[in-house]
Amino acid sequence: MSPYKYSTLAVHAGQHPDPQTGAVNVPVYLSSTFELTGIGSDRGWDYSRAGNPTRDRLETALAALEGGFCGHAFASGMAAIHALVTPLRAGDHVLCSHNVYAGTVRLFNQFVRQYGIDIEYVDTSKPEAVAAAMRPATRLVHVETPSNPAMVLSDIRAISEIAHAQGAEVSVDNTFMSPVLQRPLELGADIVMHSTTKYLNGHSDGIGGALVGSKPEHKERYLLVQKSAGAILSPFECYLVLRGIKTMPLRIKQHEENGRAVAEFLSTHPKVQRLAYPGLKSHPQHELAVRQQKGFGSMLSFDVGSRAAAGRFLGALKIFINAESLGGVESLASHSATTTHAALSDAERAAAGITDGMIRLSVGIEDKEDLIADLEQGMKAI
Ligand SMILES: Cc1ncc(COP(=O)(O)O)c(C=O)c1O
Repeated sequence: MSPYKYSTLAVHAGQHPDPQTGAVNVPVYLSSTFELTGIGSDRGWDYSRAGNPTRDRLETALAALEGGFCGHAFASGMAAIHALVTPLRAGDHVLCSHNVYAGTVRLFNQFVRQYGIDIEYVDTSKPEAVAAAMRPATRLVHVETPSNPAMVLSDIRAISEIAHAQGAEVSVDNTFMSPVLQRPLELGADIVMHSTTKYLNGHSDGIGGALVGSKPEHKERYLLVQKSAGAILSPFECYLVLRGIKTMPLRIKQHEENGRAVAEFLSTHPKVQRLAYPGLKSHPQHELAVRQQKGFGSMLSFDVGSRAAAGRFLGALKIFINAESLGGVESLASHSATTTHAALSDAERAAAGITDGMIRLSVGIEDKEDLIADLEQGMKAI
């Protein structure tokens, strides 16, 4: 347990001055290989796929921010999810939230299932559905909360109790919340996963992913995956994430404030249907959001009625950029059905509650009055 509070950790965990030069920023060690000190001995590093001093610093920071035992940085969020399932074997059973990021479903259905790993999708917003789906072969319950883009929450504590009673582990995709607003390990989960591409980097200039484990065996397991499968994050990308982490608590404060203001504006707009933002009292799981999260974030989705209306709205926006992704300083608006969730079949999209008129917003850190005015003029185009 660190004696420091969160913003201090974000600036300093893993980011102490370089012992050799005093450089205040973590040096970027662009070296694939390291001189050995003899046969079978080294200075802590031998080859950058297995470990790199810049990556080590990021991994230390990630572990500290999630309150975990070990951090592991991967080449993308998808590489981190792949690393989660790489140690599984044929015959193992995995439960996965039924409305996760579509890339997770594509990886599981088109590849992981072919290895004989049984992936079953379940409505993890209902802990009783998780309990009913558990089997003796269940090794992992993978939860995304809030889910992308429907903003459905799953109760991490309740699911962890159910999974642990049957010897399974729980991994949580914490991308939408960031470690500032939700710390799944404190709620009983075993492993946290991030697309660092989003809030951790925060500037939309790098793709990356992470796993944070809670036990020594996780360190052994995911180090072996990094070394064997090799989808590690490059030293320069590690540096970008380290840089982003320093301002993350500050950025998240503004994201939060703007997210709430935008949600309140949309909540009374006559052209908006099915607004999903866990910070609103009207969200069916608002009480769980208050209990489980440290804030409500800046992701929300709503329906403008049809694909044509969504197109007119997106086309009229001047500040919000019509682009996928989330968690950067700039506000983004996207049409979920044809972007982040295009990989799903029509039936799968319907089951995940993704309609043709659905718009997802990642509210950035600009002035909220400007953002609201932009949305207002976008609505006029419908
Ligand atoms: C919730 C969530 N998980 C995982 C991913 C995949 O991350 P990446 O794009 O870094 O591979 C994304 C990407 O949008 C995401 O939104």
